[in-house]
Amino acid sequence: MSYVEFRDVKKVYKTGEVEINALRDVDFEIEKGEFCVIVGASGAGKTTILNILGGMDTLTSGSVKLDGREISTLNKRQLTAYRRYDVGFVFQFYNLVQNLTALENVELAAQICKEPLDAATVLKQVGLEDRMANFPAQLSGGEQQRVAIARALAKNPKLLLCDEPTGALDYNTGKAVLKLLQDTCRNTGTTVIVITHNQALTAMADRVITVKSGTVEKVVMNDNIRNVEDLEW
Ligand SMILES: Nc1ncnc2c1ncn2[C@@H]1O[C@H](COP(=O)(O)OP(=O)(O)O)[C@@H](O)[C@H]1O
Ligand SMILES: [Mg+2]
Repeated sequence: MSYVEFRDVKKVYKTGEVEINALRDVDFEIEKGEFCVIVGASGAGKTTILNILGGMDTLTSGSVKLDGREISTLNKRQLTAYRRYDVGFVFQFYNLVQNLTALENVELAAQICKEPLDAATVLKQVGLEDRMANFPAQLSGGEQQRVAIARALAKNPKLLLCDEPTGALDYNTGKAVLKLLQDTCRNTGTTVIVITHNQALTAMADRVITVKSGTVEKVVMNDNIRNVEDLEW
């Protein structure tokens, strides 16, 4: 049994008379502690996969498991608890609360968890020791994304799900954020899943899942994992 399992997952979106097969028979697994990159063109189904795994969307058929627990049969209340306790999210646009400081943003998320990590400690860990009292508007994009990562990590989640986490950042800032995610995976053993359309990032992952037109085209395990610093794109 793997830590994350997708089995024959289908997702159909219905808008009026039109049906869109966003996912058709998606199958893959991810092991605990892995750094996994899900790569594919725009519209391939990456976000749909992540939203289903994160309990933000439901599947049409199939099975999704995290740590032995079936996600597809959870009711609304169970899904709320699942999102709250089991998964941390990082999005392209950081989604911080603008009138709370960096520290307060992280504390806010930690408050709704069972066994949160100390907010200040996690902010230190992401390199923001000196910026804890700043409001989001006083921070650069890269710093705001670090706060968002700290907020997700403070929940001490089973999974860290990142949807195009560097999409709004410049080249070097994006690289630094990816390094933080790679280091976090290595140092804390957190299972990290990063969605990207950037093929170059596949070199930094333990496992690369390539998605095409709503299906998994291939899964590759890297035997020569590269540090982000050594990648160019
Ligand atoms: N809420 C939705 N309603 C209807 N269609 C959707 C919805 N979300 C995604 N889709 C469609 O599903 C397909 C996969 O989308 P998505 O998972 O966002 O792809 P990606 O993240 O790889 O760019 C696309 O054709 C998209 O238009
Ligand atoms: Mg997407």
